[in-house]
Amino acid sequence: MSEARKLHVKSYGCQMNAYDSQRMADLLAERGFVETAAAETAELVILNTCHIREKAAEKVYSELGRIRKWKASAEAEGRRMTIVVAGCVAQAEGEEILRRAPLVDIVVGPQNYHHLPALLDRAERGDKPVDTEFAAESKFDAIEPAAGGAIRRRGVTAFVTVQEGCDKFCTFCVVPYTRGAEISRPIEQIIAEVKHLARAGVREVTLIGQNVNAYHGEGPDGRTWTLGRLLQRVAEISGIARIRYTTSHPRDVDDSLLAAHRELPQLMPCLHLPVQSGSDRVLAAMNRRHGRGDYLRVVARMREARPDMAFSSDFIVGFPGETECDFRETLTIVDEIGYAGAFSFKYSPRPGTPAAAMADQVPEPVKNERLARLQAAIDRNQAAFNARCLGTTLDVLLEKPGRRPGQLVGRSPYLQPVQIMLPESRIGDIVPAAVTEIGANSLFGSLAGETSRSDRSASLLAVGS
Ligand code: 5AD
Ligand code: SF4
Repeated sequence: MSEARKLHVKSYGCQMNAYDSQRMADLLAERGFVETAAAETAELVILNTCHIREKAAEKVYSELGRIRKWKASAEAEGRRMTIVVAGCVAQAEGEEILRRAPLVDIVVGPQNYHHLPALLDRAERGDKPVDTEFAAESKFDAIEPAAGGAIRRRGVTAFVTVQEGCDKFCTFCVVPYTRGAEISRPIEQIIAEVKHLARAGVREVTLIGQNVNAYHGEGPDGRTWTLGRLLQRVAEISGIARIRYTTSHPRDVDDSLLAAHRELPQLMPCLHLPVQSGSDRVLAAMNRRHGRGDYLRVVARMREARPDMAFSSDFIVGFPGETECDFRETLTIVDEIGYAGAFSFKYSPRPGTPAAAMADQVPEPVKNERLARLQAAIDRNQAAFNARCLGTTLDVLLEKPGRRPGQLVGRSPYLQPVQIMLPESRIGDIVPAAVTEIGANSLFGSLAGETSRSDRSASLLAVGS
């Protein structure tokens, strides 16, 4: 048997990068590449990079510093090692990457991954291609899984990209520049992929997009379908027990999405709905196109549709011009919503975005202090949310072996990790777990009577009004 060509893909940043990394590995599998965790032995190393904040972008260059040594020893042994920088840093910096890191052989932007086999051929001929022009054809057409072809087992949960890019242009954000304008995959392509995953044993799909609820894809009837309608269609696929979607924009929550939450038991009561700030002044400067009141109304309508809906958010502290008074409005919105969890970031100026050129940049020590206060408020809300689950029964989708021998870990409807003593044969099952203990990072449960449902949790988990 000839030795397989080894591929190492390292993914940074968002779930879409994780998905794209898998797709690149699928594409290269057709060329005989097999994934390895040991980058130093790989023939092909792909860094799928993130440009969202400065720290994320800098990680790429420090990783390339490490790889330089591996590449040198590979070449000393007469082995080839091809280095690819993909993702949003590739898109934003292009040629500059080759100047800063001459060991890099290929630079490829997120819309062009389907060109990889051709780019590899060029690199083999000694070229150093940079492919960051937004391709005219859709990468979605080119990265379709081969019809009826073998799919590598993915576990019981999977991501599916349904939409990519963003037309919102929040003043702090690079996404509209690195991922380009909004595009939605056609319904039939998405359905084919979800069916494929269901056949491979996947029980839960998360539909992903930078602005997923702005989805407006072509339906089989030739009309434009919304996310709500897509969710209704995905719910018809047998084998798929749970559906999630992320990330949503408050402006794009429409009636069809509310109806989907009202009607579909498969659709999990868990919504990542970034607000970024609680201050109307800051929201306007961010060009979020919604105020605090609009956001609260969207949350209220969601809770009307699904009373046990859990919310999570992203926050930015220290946006240019943010005063102590603005920041306090962010703190109060955290308590008002009662988030089940949230991510918080210090504002990081991104070259080329409007906010980077704004006056009144907030000093670093102020950002640090606000971040600590915000994280404390988020942690307090998260702990309160988890505490309300104690003594309730939650349905848990068992995903993989847990921390201790004999234990499995799965997720509650609200995305909380739940540890439970059960044999590995139960992976992929959804079991009712009585929550007996709340740990720092997960809940602990024991198997409840298998006929019980999680309806007891609904009233306990309703937060807010
Ligand atoms: N600085 C800090 N955080 C940012 N985010 C996006 N751009 C920036 C930036 N320039 C955060 C937002 C977004 C999340 C994915 O990253 O909160 O929702
Ligand atoms: Fe960035 Fe999200 Fe704003 Fe789009 S909606 S510009 S992805 S923060």
